[in-house]
Amino acid sequence: MDVLTTRDQVAAFSASHHAAGRRVGFVPTMGALHAGHLALMEEAGRRADAVLASIFVNPTQFGPGEDFERYPRDTEGDLAKARSAGCHAVFLPPVAEMYPPGADTVVRVPALSGPLCGASRPGHFDGVCTVVLKLLHITRCDVAVFGEKDYQQLAVIRRMVRDLDVPVEIVGHPIVREADGLAMSSRNQYLGADERREALCLHRALAAAEAVWAAGERDADALEQTARALVAASARARIDYLEVRDALDLTRPAGPITGPVVLAMAVWFGQTRLLDNRVLA
Ligand code: PAF
Repeated sequence: MDVLTTRDQVAAFSASHHAAGRRVGFVPTMGALHAGHLALMEEAGRRADAVLASIFVNPTQFGPGEDFERYPRDTEGDLAKARSAGCHAVFLPPVAEMYPPGADTVVRVPALSGPLCGASRPGHFDGVCTVVLKLLHITRCDVAVFGEKDYQQLAVIRRMVRDLDVPVEIVGHPIVREADGLAMSSRNQYLGADERREALCLHRALAAAEAVWAAGERDADALEQTARALVAASARARIDYLEVRDALDLTRPAGPITGPVVLAMAVWFGQTRLLDNRVLA
């Protein structure tokens, strides 16, 4: 497995595979890799001949006071995991390689970036879009795989790629969960033992909402109330948002739900903010 640190090295990696008629699959990450990331890499391996991952804790998607400084970093461990998942190369750029002095351009997808995480983390998706578009250009990948746990991020990236005619296939991969149902996340390691136990309320809340949906409930408020009650049962949980939104454009359904929706939530446990979601279709 190659470890690449410059844009030129990545361009040469992709060019050599393309010259041999091979497809390049790409998985962007911020490191602290877990089984969820490895599943994305394996998916990329099923859809392409050469798999490239990036590990870059992107400063522009963190707001003031967020966890950029303490975000978990484990480069040696990550490289071993990426290798075990079949990656052919990992791009580990220094910040100045991604944002050279004078870098000023920001990519924004305003409507889709507005609600949910965008409301509590202003500017977050501008940072995500800017770095992801750069990575797609740098890697010249044919397919890029993203996790569906970051549901809004995936929706925003799909729209950006569509609107800007980026020649890449975007693939969403289902959420990978621990055996007890907690969605895998690099931030789970921040949780204390009590918080970790109570964090299962997210999974329970989604399952309860899915059950009432399966029984015919089509009122967004009622679905939210069902889920909210389960989260509120945890003394340590503080809901950032818990909302039913249209699965494609993330607008709030007006009246009885007629199409697919996503029930998305962000919940704080102490200093740790966890995301989870379920598509109801
Ligand atoms: O989902 C993430 O880990 C990040 O937002 C991404 C897509 C790697 C961009 O920094």
